[in-house]
Amino acid sequence: MANERTLVLCKPDAVQRGHVGHIISRFESRGFKIAGMKMLQVDEALAARHYQEHVEKPFYPMLRDFITSSPVIALAIEGDHAVDVVRAMMGTTNPQAAAPGTIRGDLGINFTKNLVHGSDSPASAQRELVLFFDEGELYDYEMTIKDWL
Ligand code: RTP
Ligand code: MG
Repeated sequence: MANERTLVLCKPDAVQRGHVGHIISRFESRGFKIAGMKMLQVDEALAARHYQEHVEKPFYPMLRDFITSSPVIALAIEGDHAVDVVRAMMGTTNPQAAAPGTIRGDLGINFTKNLVHGSDSPASAQRELVLFFDEGELYDYEMTIKDWL
């Protein structure tokens, strides 16, 4: 969809390794608008809601322990087909298989510590954005460069 929003998380490893600025810069450089941004500590309840499709899976305890291990940066990224373009920029889930040039393919090597989250569909984006942002924390504004993108 033209001009959609997606949820991006810079995961605890991205914060700890000092890659937050670099990751945000990639989205800005691509031409996306930041509609919201905040740091927060994910607790077990939020982890379970966010990863609801994984809660019963054997790897969930590891995923939960990781995502709650240190603060994350949450971003609402807005732009043309933002959901799919952001997923492509992130690379495949396992960084070892992710293509060079993607965030995971350039910065990661570990399946769990894979640096970023991006919503996997427009429906997931809508569901996840409200978990991380209150209404007043998302901003509608016009970027003056929009006609050059
Ligand atoms: P994410 O939700 O974190 O953006 O990652 P994703 O869409 O690329 O991958 P997803 O299938 O949603 O899995 C969520 C996270 O769980 C870990 N995982 N481990 N051991 C396993 O089989 C396994 N499968 C998934 C990954 O760290 C993945 O980011
Ligand atoms: Mg996922």
